[in-house]
Order: sequence, then structure tokens, then C-alpha cells
Amino acid sequence: MSLFKTRITELFGIKHPILAGGLMWLSDARYVAGIVNAGGMGFITPRSFDTPAAFRDQLRLCREQAHGKPFGVNLTLSSRNAHNELVPRHIEMALEEGVRHFETVAANPEPLFKAIHDGGGIVVHKASRIRYAQKAEALGADAVCLVGMEAGGHPGMNELPAFVMGAYAVDRLKVPLVIGGGIGSGRQIVSALALGADGVLMGTRFLTCHEVWAHENYKNHLLACNEDDSTTAMRTLKDTWRVLANDNARIVQQMEADGARSYPEFGKRIKGTTTRDLCYRGGDVQQGMVSMGPSIGFATKRESIAETIDALMADAATSLNRLKTLETPS
Ligand SMILES: Cc1cc2nc3c(=O)[nH]c(=O)nc-3n(C[C@H](O)[C@H](O)[C@H](O)COP(=O)(O)O)c2cc1C
Repeated sequence: MSLFKTRITELFGIKHPILAGGLMWLSDARYVAGIVNAGGMGFITPRSFDTPAAFRDQLRLCREQAHGKPFGVNLTLSSRNAHNELVPRHIEMALEEGVRHFETVAANPEPLFKAIHDGGGIVVHKASRIRYAQKAEALGADAVCLVGMEAGGHPGMNELPAFVMGAYAVDRLKVPLVIGGGIGSGRQIVSALALGADGVLMGTRFLTCHEVWAHENYKNHLLACNEDDSTTAMRTLKDTWRVLANDNARIVQQMEADGARSYPEFGKRIKGTTTRDLCYRGGDVQQGMVSMGPSIGFATKRESIAETIDALMADAATSLNRLKTLETPS
């Protein structure tokens, strides 16, 4: 059942106003096809694959598994400059394989927008402050997504939650607006739309779904987590990271408190490959910086992405009906 028609459902040609943001190491073909088949829009993260050829294989696999439905690619220009030189090649390959939907994250997205638009694509730009979103709009973003400080992963240095920024942003932006960070229920989707947003972006809520390839220990641990089980680190390096509150995150926080102020000082503790190898592959949830936000508390059972999205939309319908009962007769 399609409950809402918004500028985002129209722009992306999707059934529900739900975007699933790129997830480093995890948003592969199977995950993104799962999102797309369930009526949302998902984004493959090219950096998760060892070689450009492996990325291309994922694009082809996703096209097959999504039965020809459009799907997206996430393009992140890393603040640590890790392999940014590969990004133009990623755009080229995605366009060659028929991808036309992109999610970007970059301090200066102009070159990305140009390449995407020249190839006939559309782009939602993810920003952590309203003024960055306004800049992206001025540079030609087709839609913008504001992520609050409660978002899993790297929410930037902003200290405001998504619903505060969103409430301000609806009067300051013309392009379709998506908000993200801490969203894991249908009632929040209704709230976001009531606020004036055109859609939501979610990441954490899907981490325990069948389609995520990570170790069962990791998923079982996350299923037992609640809203208090995420924490932030690396703020002193101007690179805030919201993660699972595990032993490694606590050590990183202590190292910061003791004065560590550069990436090399943290060594393997903050390397993405550590998280991939020891936690996602190995199942040791106390290792690595494991991106995750407080919406994990909404994930309470093992289910597919389609079941999760159905549950979200059923909750949204309940929330909408409740609102209707509150209306006073005119
Ligand atoms: C495991 C994980 C990995 C992520 N990796 C990326 C990434 O590589 N690129 C990116 O733009 N955002 C990344 N994010 C952020 C998500 O795309 C999205 O903005 C965020 O999850 C939304 O907030 P929520 O987790 O509170 O729903 C990641 C988030 C998580 C939880």
C-alpha cells in the first residue's frame, strides 16, 4: 500500500518516501536491491569494494536483483581524502551501468553535481547544516537531506537534531527536503512529513535485516541494543563519529580525553577495515568503530527489509489515523 505521494516519491519514482543512506561496507547489491524492491531508494557505496571491477559487478548484480528498478549510488568525498581520486571513475561507471540516482556527501559537491547532471542523473545531497544544504541547492542539487547529530556514522560537527533543523529548513529551501538521523519508526515518518519534509533518510534501522551480510553476532547484539547504546567520538578531530558504544569506542574516547588529536595516533582502532574484518566479518562487537545511531532501539526482531518497511508504513498509518482523531470539526 502506498500511503504518501511527495516530491521525493515523485523525484525518485518510489512507493514510499524513504531513502536508505549509503552504508560503508554494508550497502551492497543485495541490500540496495532489498530497499528498492520494498519501495524505497537505496545507494551502493563504491568505496566498500576493493577494485572498480568489483564495484561494477555489484552494479550489475543490483540491477538484476532489483528487476530493472532504479537504484542509487552514494558518492562520499572523504574529509580524510581517502581515495577521493576514484570518485569521478565511480560516477562514470555508475552512469555506464544505467544508474541515474545519486546521494552525495562532500564539502564542495559542485564537480560531482556537474558530472551527475551531464550524465542525465539526479542527486540528493546530504548535509549536516542548513547553510550547507542551501549552498548545495544553489549549486544545483535536485534535493537535499539534512542529517541531525543523532545520525549513525558521521553526522558532522553540527549539534542540532534533525527535527530542529528540518523545522527551520522548510522555509529556507525550495528543493525537496529529506531529513535523517534517529528515524526508525513510522510515527517519525509522519512527523517529518507533517513538519514539511518530503521524505526521510534512514540507516541504522535496517542494520539487522536479513539482507545485511554482516555476522550474526553483530546483528543479535544490535537487536538487544536500545536508544542509549550509541555514543560519539572523534569530535576533537572535527570528525564526529556516532557509533555503537563498545569497548573500542570507549578506548578511543579515553585516548581523546588524554590528548590524542591526529588520526595516526588512534591507529587501527579507527580504521574502517578493522570494523569490517573483526566486527562485520568476525562477529566481535567490541572491536572497531561500528557506525550506529539511537534508532537501533526500534529494531527488535530479525526480519527482511520488506518486512521492516511494511512495519514502518503500518506504524505511519496508525500515527496518521491518530492525528485525524485529534482534528476539531470546522
Ligand atoms: C553502518 C553505517 C555506515 C555508514 N556509512 C556511510 C557512508 O559510507 N557514506 C555516507 O554518506 N553515509 C554513511 N552512513 C550514514 C547513513 O547513510 C545515514 O546518513 C545515517 O545512517 C542516517 O542516520 P540513522 O543511522 O540515525 O538512521 C553510515 C551509517 C551507518 C549506520
